[in-house]
Amino acid sequence: MDYIEPPPTPKPEEKKRKEKFLKVLLNDKDEREIVIQKAQIRDVEEILELINTFAAMNLMLPRGPQYLYENIRDFVIACDSNVPVYSVTETREVLPLLVACGSLHVLWEDIAEIRALAIHPDYQHLGLGSKLIETMKEEAKQLGIHRLYTFTLTEDFFKTFGFRRQDRSELPPKVWGECSRCPKYFHCDEVGMVLDL
Ligand SMILES: CC(C)(COP(=O)(O)OP(=O)(O)OC[C@H]1O[C@@H](n2cnc3c(N)ncnc32)[C@H](O)[C@@H]1OP(=O)(O)O)[C@@H](O)C(=O)NCCC(=O)NCCS
Repeated sequence: MDYIEPPPTPKPEEKKRKEKFLKVLLNDKDEREIVIQKAQIRDVEEILELINTFAAMNLMLPRGPQYLYENIRDFVIACDSNVPVYSVTETREVLPLLVACGSLHVLWEDIAEIRALAIHPDYQHLGLGSKLIETMKEEAKQLGIHRLYTFTLTEDFFKTFGFRRQDRSELPPKVWGECSRCPKYFHCDEVGMVLDL
């Protein structure tokens, strides 16, 4: 009897993932009405779409609905109420759109993590990322947290807020909780950064 080699098991990252954002038709002259607020349950689907589209480009960690529902109170979002877009039928429509998100996750008495910061590509370099960081910094201070940290690929962005690179061995063990669930566990390319408030 001939031995037939079984096909290789597909790696999770090879599974088909959505890699495109909804095409937004912004005009530089348009006045945008963007509101920053705490996320609600109804926002979960759009937050997942934003995060996982970046995750498919290997820029962020993917997240699932269970994580989002369990941690929804960590999230701040930015919404634009009138966004001109091309719909799936290629017609022009105006929709409300969740254009940015970020989350502040408390880990211990003195430390919280900034996670899942994502700005829709058509809304980057408008100061939204900075506004979300400032909002989360304020929330951390009000909670009595004195230190923030993040794992990121965009070191320079976080440097602009005073975050500094920190060797992994100097971070408290509590920050590693997420790593065992991370698809990058064996080949992590992210930098650990901290900010004292
Ligand atoms: C990184 C990111 C959050 C920045 O958000 P943003 O709203 O564009 O940032 P801001 O407009 O507040 O930028 C403020 C300044 O930070 C710096 N900056 C912005 N994006 C940067 C990046 N990707 N790398 C390095 N520096 C960056 C610039 O100096 C910028 O000023 P400028 O617009 O005059 O050039 C956004 O590009 C993003 O969502 N990227 C994809 C997902 C991601 O990498 N998330 C990071 C956390 S894991």
